[in-house]
Amino acid sequence: MAKTTPPLLSVNNVSKSFKGKDSESLVIDHVSFDMCEGEIIALLGKSGSGKSTLMRIIAGLTPQSSGDVIYRNQAVTGPVPGIAMVFQSFALMPWLTVLQNVELGLEALGIPKKERRERAIKAIDIIGMDGFEGAYPKELSGGMRQRVGFARALVVRPELLLMDEPFSALDVLTAENLRNDLMEIWQDPETRMKGILFVTHNIEEAVLIADRILVFGNNPGYIKGELKVNLPHERNSKDPAVEKLIDAVYTLMTRRQDRFGREDLKPHAMGLEYRLPNVGVAELIGLLEEMDELQQRGPVDLPDLADVIRLDINDLFPVLEALSNLGLAKVSEGDIAMTRQGKDFLAADITERKVMFAKMLLEHIPLSRHILEALQDKSSARLSEDRFLKDLEPYFSPDEAQRILSTMIDWGRYAEIFAYDYNTGVFHLEDVA
Ligand SMILES: Nc1ncnc2c1ncn2[C@@H]1O[C@H](COP(=O)(O)OP(=O)(O)OP(=O)(O)O)[C@@H](O)[C@H]1O
Ligand SMILES: [Mg+2]
Repeated sequence: MAKTTPPLLSVNNVSKSFKGKDSESLVIDHVSFDMCEGEIIALLGKSGSGKSTLMRIIAGLTPQSSGDVIYRNQAVTGPVPGIAMVFQSFALMPWLTVLQNVELGLEALGIPKKERRERAIKAIDIIGMDGFEGAYPKELSGGMRQRVGFARALVVRPELLLMDEPFSALDVLTAENLRNDLMEIWQDPETRMKGILFVTHNIEEAVLIADRILVFGNNPGYIKGELKVNLPHERNSKDPAVEKLIDAVYTLMTRRQDRFGREDLKPHAMGLEYRLPNVGVAELIGLLEEMDELQQRGPVDLPDLADVIRLDINDLFPVLEALSNLGLAKVSEGDIAMTRQGKDFLAADITERKVMFAKMLLEHIPLSRHILEALQDKSSARLSEDRFLKDLEPYFSPDEAQRILSTMIDWGRYAEIFAYDYNTGVFHLEDVA
């Protein structure tokens, strides 16, 4: 019997593009998966791979460009009563109390005031916030505010709970606490919850909670692979079976493979559309030096490295991407090893390092070449940052373009291929004061 039950949620060939000024950018490319009743699915992937966008599409908050989302045999075309979402940022109304914020979700469902109050009080209690009903968001810590966000999602008694990085803004202990509370609610025989889909940057968290892990590839976002976690709850991060799975997730995440399963030998698109990873030169050199100190210039297992240097993957992956795109390290199948160039770079003194870094930038990062050529082309050799932001405009949102340009400035200044004046926002060539 159970086998014939239709899936709780079905995502079929969902694609999404956003319209820019003159072009469209494809953010999600034909994503399909089903979720069965009783399943917890984690979504892992690089920043910008479209995870939040996909969650919003499933919640009925953003329309997809093509494909469909079926929940309980019905197409999702707007918010659905059985689906609730916990957002990453604590989107509470500052002028409402905790109780009023939690009740808000029920108002939209047209539930009478008395029942609203009772249910909100109960949800606040479940999430361990009783006594704070009358408090305002500004009086609460980040962890407490996130709890209120959970209460607001739980109060509607959702069947399907969507959570977008629900724990990532919290400190380690608060996150663990809230995670345990959530698992208790999930396992409570009285719960109506039939499925959880959550986004995380934390591989360990995914392995500890989920039954299945979907790994997202990016540019545009697609499902690169999935892993089943057939382990009973409570899981322990020190359990060898858990460690093995964590390793497998790293391997999948660092696998060079395009969306058709072909080996992707040049994973970086080489044009201005390349999204420079969000990492400073200091961090790049820092990681190389850490590896050197560990005497592990050869292949080292990424989970071990992450453990030793105490970096969350959220912070580690951008560094790995930068190191490998610059040719300083090779990352593959869950391992990282310094390249010849990486070893030479480490052995060099600061002046030599700058020269080497400049060479790497101009060879591998088109934006650096673009800026240098534009400056060399201009007789005065001074150009405002607006000009380069405009060049990035077709590919990125304004905020992202700004972020990418700041990263480029950090790298370019280190390499001394150009200078940049933070007061005026003007780029100029190094030798032109
Ligand atoms: N409303 C929008 N208009 C235009 N572009 C958008 C919009 N929302 C998201 N994007 C773009 O879509 C891409 C995917 O964004 P999204 O927030 O879904 O990624 P993500 O995987 O959740 O990233 P993160 O891990 O950083 O949260 C990004 O390039 C982003 O700039
Ligand atoms: Mg996101």
